[in-house]
Amino acid sequence: MNLRPVKIAGLATYVPPGLLTNADLEKMVETSNEWILQRTGIRERHIVSAGVATSDLAEPAAREAIREAGLTPADIDFIVVGTTTPDTIFPSTACTLQAKIGARGWGFDLGAACSGFTYALTVGWQFVASGSVEHALVVGADVMSSIIDYTDRSTCVLFGDGAGAIVLSPAEPGEPALIDFLHEIDGSGGPALCMPAGGSRCPASHETIDQRLHYVKQDGQTVFKFAVKKNQEITMALLERNGIAGSDLDLFVSHQANRRIIEAAAQRMNLSPDKVVINLDRYGNTTAGTIPLALADARKQGRLKKNDLVMLASVGAGFTVGSILLRWSL
Ligand SMILES: CC(C)(COP(=O)(O)OP(=O)(O)OC[C@H]1O[C@@H](n2cnc3c(N)ncnc32)[C@H](O)[C@@H]1OP(=O)(O)O)[C@@H](O)C(=O)NCCC(=O)NCCS
Repeated sequence: MNLRPVKIAGLATYVPPGLLTNADLEKMVETSNEWILQRTGIRERHIVSAGVATSDLAEPAAREAIREAGLTPADIDFIVVGTTTPDTIFPSTACTLQAKIGARGWGFDLGAACSGFTYALTVGWQFVASGSVEHALVVGADVMSSIIDYTDRSTCVLFGDGAGAIVLSPAEPGEPALIDFLHEIDGSGGPALCMPAGGSRCPASHETIDQRLHYVKQDGQTVFKFAVKKNQEITMALLERNGIAGSDLDLFVSHQANRRIIEAAAQRMNLSPDKVVINLDRYGNTTAGTIPLALADARKQGRLKKNDLVMLASVGAGFTVGSILLRWSL
């Protein structure tokens, strides 16, 4: 099969207006601004108001990304939504979003937790590259506040809500395009970061509610150690496979879970701080939303320009690990 080059034709993001600051959390659980800042780098997160769901955040991002691509929703023939917090278990948020914006074609949700965006981008890319679809809408969106236990200080300080959308289109020969990806999963890490109830293993019951099993549970240190190691390993392997040195990169855009995880990977690639995007101070960990939010901020700050060589990287629950090398095309 002849694969055609694929480019990013539009990018947009959306976060809800409500803010949850470290000072707010100090009033809710036994924590401090100093602890949160020092251990994670997070200052505040955006949180939805009651009744707002993942597709509500994805919709404005999707509409704006499609507009930037010079298209209308009717031109979109494939939607993939990376999310851990779909509006409903079924129908998929891809279907809900398709109906809201009036896209056509087909699509589905993809569950890869914090690697939701890197994996969704890879899936959209393959379909456009093969020629089976023309314009793919790739969304990373989560309302993490819907599954966070705000009495558990070890997790509630980490997460926020947010969404990003990218439109993928065929690239002309010579245009900057997506280059390569390298992903892996390690299911042995499952218990370290999970939501124990609400699936087929442990359906909702009075007991599961009483035991607070419909919330994120995390063994922070296990996840931290794995993330530091794998973030470095996967990005170095992708660089090597493409004969590229870390110093050749213009920008490193990692999943935003913890400042220390990102800085360790950047150090390993010999990247100066100006080549590393860190915006988790303002959003926290928005799961599938972090990478598009970081790309959008970098672009707004003039740190991401057409033809820049960019590395995306993610580690998430599963465990899932992902990395993508691309030339920025906007
Ligand atoms: C969660 C995380 C910030 C915790 O940092 P840490 O340095 O590992 O801290 P620990 O879990 O060892 O806890 C150290 C102490 O701080 C306490 N603590 C935990 N959360 C706290 C909070 N919000 N405020 C104050 N103290 C807190 C712990 O109870 C523990 O106290 P103890 O020593 O008396 O038992 C860190 O492990 C992490 O970032 N993990 C990865 C998270 C991640 O990436 N998740 C998403 C994957 S995509």
